[in-house]
Amino acid sequence: MIFTVAIDGPAAAGKGTISKEVAAHFGFAHLDTGLIYRATGARVLAGEDPLAAAQDLRPEDLQRDDLRTGEVAQAASKVAVMADVRAALVAFQKSFARREGGAVLDGRDIGTVICPEAEVKLFVTASDEVRGERRYQELFGKGQDVTREGVLSDLRLRDKRDSEREAAPMKAANDAVVIDTSEMTITEAVEAAVAAVGTVLR
Ligand code: CDP
Repeated sequence: MIFTVAIDGPAAAGKGTISKEVAAHFGFAHLDTGLIYRATGARVLAGEDPLAAAQDLRPEDLQRDDLRTGEVAQAASKVAVMADVRAALVAFQKSFARREGGAVLDGRDIGTVICPEAEVKLFVTASDEVRGERRYQELFGKGQDVTREGVLSDLRLRDKRDSEREAAPMKAANDAVVIDTSEMTITEAVEAAVAAVGTVLR
């Protein structure tokens, strides 16, 4: 069976958790496409050329344990502006989306560019303040040296760069179901996403 669930939305809206849970629920594979950009950004921080890094990306690059820092997130959104870097990463994502057995991909351009034919498209969002607080708790919980103000302004800067860029800007596809998680628990958000997929799969 070929079945793609495309989940897009701004930073720290809950895409990661929702994607993992939806994939587990339906037995689909999951690809966090943000990790691809983070891994490319991390290699650029280490001195590599962005396009060369993107073209040479290896599975182990996605397993580095330093990808979830604010510094790498900013580097990711900077390489993500580059059309040639994005182009180098498209084929892998497209083939993952249409793999046998079903796939969930989360990112910024999955429903619009990577897989416009996705059977289900979700756009997961939440207010800036809620997203900032969630990301602050996540990073602080991992022992990172962060402040609430710093995390919120980093997130706003990244959202602005992601939505205003020319190449595959972040936006909801016309046929996406929008899930605003500002007032939801993570369980409620997962239930809403599973229900949206369930109505199409039935
Ligand atoms: O976890 P969070 O939502 O904060 O970010 P992420 O999904 O790990 O993505 C990191 C950065 O990669 C984003 O800010 C985007 O600039 C870029 N990205 C993208 O351009 N396209 C995607 N499909 C996924 C991520």
